[in-house]
Amino acid sequence: MPEQYKSLQGFRDILPDEQPYWRFIEKIASEVAQLYGYRRIDTPILEETAVFHKSSGEGTDIVEHEMYNFDDRADKEGKRQNIALRPEGTAGVVRAYLEHGMFQLAQPVKLYYLGTEMFRREKPQAKRYRQHHQFGCEALGEGDPAIDAEMIGLLYQVYSRLGLQHIRVNINSIGDRNCRPQYIELLKNYYRPLLADCCDDCKIRFTKNPLRLLDCKEPQDQPKIAAAPRITDHLCEPCQEHFEAVQRFLTFYQVPYAIDKLIVRGLDYYTRTVFEFTSEVDNVALNGGGRYDGLAEILGGPTTPGIGFGAGMERIILEMKRQGIVPPGETATRVFVVYFGKTPEFKNAAVQITANLRQAGIKAEMSYGDRSRKAQMKQSNASGAAYAVILGDDELANGTVSLKNLQADGMEIENKQIQLPQSELIAYLTGEGK
Ligand code: HAM
Repeated sequence: MPEQYKSLQGFRDILPDEQPYWRFIEKIASEVAQLYGYRRIDTPILEETAVFHKSSGEGTDIVEHEMYNFDDRADKEGKRQNIALRPEGTAGVVRAYLEHGMFQLAQPVKLYYLGTEMFRREKPQAKRYRQHHQFGCEALGEGDPAIDAEMIGLLYQVYSRLGLQHIRVNINSIGDRNCRPQYIELLKNYYRPLLADCCDDCKIRFTKNPLRLLDCKEPQDQPKIAAAPRITDHLCEPCQEHFEAVQRFLTFYQVPYAIDKLIVRGLDYYTRTVFEFTSEVDNVALNGGGRYDGLAEILGGPTTPGIGFGAGMERIILEMKRQGIVPPGETATRVFVVYFGKTPEFKNAAVQITANLRQAGIKAEMSYGDRSRKAQMKQSNASGAAYAVILGDDELANGTVSLKNLQADGMEIENKQIQLPQSELIAYLTGEGK
């Protein structure tokens, strides 16, 4: 027996039954993003690995353990470039903003991406895939806290229009380059005497990425986290004012937010406002985002404030399903064409009529494979079509079709089926209901 292949672990097919969820999210997300003045951008899946290394931070899980990167084939000079499948969207967008000189345009430049594939070699587990898709927005070139509130308001409006309820909106501020270093020292001083009793990951975080100590999920470290100093108590005045303004503006967008002083985020580029939305039932993030005022500079550009979010589309769909939200379905088949004869004339007429219907914009299906009359009628009933177009001996001989109303359970027998010239079929169907 030849080997049967399966998709790779952590990668999934999006089958036709799930597609309406994706189309629904795409429709609502792009409408709302455009309503807020965001314009679509698509960046390449592959980037130079350095783009992610520099932006996300060397000490982060995403870059250190989860990135799919490899040496490309050598170019003419024999040089090889190390390239990576993007693990997230922000770095590529900022790279594009700088590469295309968008900092010379009127600021802010407001961009969105949608259905964008991201690749992270995570441990396979529920709600964590190795390929996932994001809807994201990025606003570059403006540090005004009104944009922070706008981002959160936009996303909340998307979820509301999708019909999602009971979403928790958590925000925090993690300071900037002026106040965060002092806080990190404070945090390290607090953890130093506790370190021997910390999990192995925390011992590494202590040197590589101390803020992430607060993100540890190990039960043994929870009491330490609970008593740790909070960054919001150590913000410098401009960061404190910024955070207060974000909260004030959020009330205008009617977003029911809470402050979660433990949000630190898994990427190094964040400054000031950070936020995550979660479902009420678990703490798994539907999206994450925040301000990244130093990122453009790290990628070799001018000082450029920025803020954005990425929302995991798989996670939104799982939450929609959990809440019983049904997306609008696909358009139903209107007509199913059947033919009751084995000679080529029957098949030719069936294909011709089906082609004409489709070209006239009427969703039509036909029976394939010369099946029995009974099997074809069963197929047409199962198709959900409103009508069957029937080609029997009579119809073929006199250039007509019989049109059977398949949804006419309660109708008088004589109204269920009519015969009409083939040439009048489309006019009859398009004229109906006018
Ligand atoms: P992130 O928090 O790493 O942020 O990812 C954003 C969202 O993508 C998560 O909240 C989650 O919904 C989804 N996600 C992440 N990893 C997976 C996975 N393995 N499987 C399924 N869903 C996943 C970022 O990526 C930032 N670039 C967001 C951002 C944009 N910040 C500023 N601008």
